[in-house]
Amino acid sequence: MDFEQLIDKDKLPEHIAIIMDGNGRWAKRKGQPRVMGHRAGVKTVRRITEACAKLGVKYLTLYAFSTENWNRPAFEVNALMRLLVETLNKEVKILNKNNIQLQTIGDLSRLPDRSRKAMENAILETAKNNRMRLTLALNYSGRWEIAEAAKSLAQKVKDGLIEPQDIDNEMFASALTTYDMPDPELLIRTSGETRLSNYLLWQLAYAEFYFTPLYWPDFMEKDLHEAIYTYQNRERRFGKTSEQLDE
Ligand code: IPE
Ligand code: IPE
Ligand code: MG
Repeated sequence: MDFEQLIDKDKLPEHIAIIMDGNGRWAKRKGQPRVMGHRAGVKTVRRITEACAKLGVKYLTLYAFSTENWNRPAFEVNALMRLLVETLNKEVKILNKNNIQLQTIGDLSRLPDRSRKAMENAILETAKNNRMRLTLALNYSGRWEIAEAAKSLAQKVKDGLIEPQDIDNEMFASALTTYDMPDPELLIRTSGETRLSNYLLWQLAYAEFYFTPLYWPDFMEKDLHEAIYTYQNRERRFGKTSEQLDE
């Protein structure tokens, strides 16, 4: 089925978050080293980024490296960090051509210098683009982010800038790394795993979840279209009853 034709362009999710998973298993299935899976995964990033921009999605946030991923063998971590530099240096031109802004969430201070600098440079060079924002979650985890937000609000209380009772959902959200983005309406995870792995814990509170068994390197535009079509056919009740939504 051609899901692209079925998508209602007036009801697009403004923000899509993706847990790109399954690169390692994709490579293993082909008898290749895991790193080849990550290389193939980069191609999917390009493909899905352009497909989202083309549809009119405004924010795409990709889980690229979690705080837990440091626990992988050093060889794989180093390869991922090198791949990041290589990719960013190559993609900036394409991002500019497509008017896509790059951003990051996560603690960049722990990244190797070269990776951090490549990221900072790519952010600067794409800062003026305004068709879509592509955010890479790098050395990111939801719990880290929530603890950081709590720390910054506690400091504000200590400095006498706010009172404890001023802290509400809205203020808390504005202390998160995603302070200037709407919450994702749709979360996609590839590879058949059905967990959050510490991703955007606060922001996904009311997102629709879409899980596919496809490995990330095999995830195509048509699969994105199917995910969006599925999302559009869910009933989002936000605590209300079905009948209330028809009123
Ligand atoms: C996702 O693919 C990419 C990163 C976590 C960096 P994986 O590397 O987790 O692939 P699997 O889950 O082992 O197949
Ligand atoms: C989540 O994938 C992190 C990224 C996609 C960057 P993992 O493959 O690391 O997650 P777990 O370990 O299977 O939960
Ligand atoms: Mg994985």
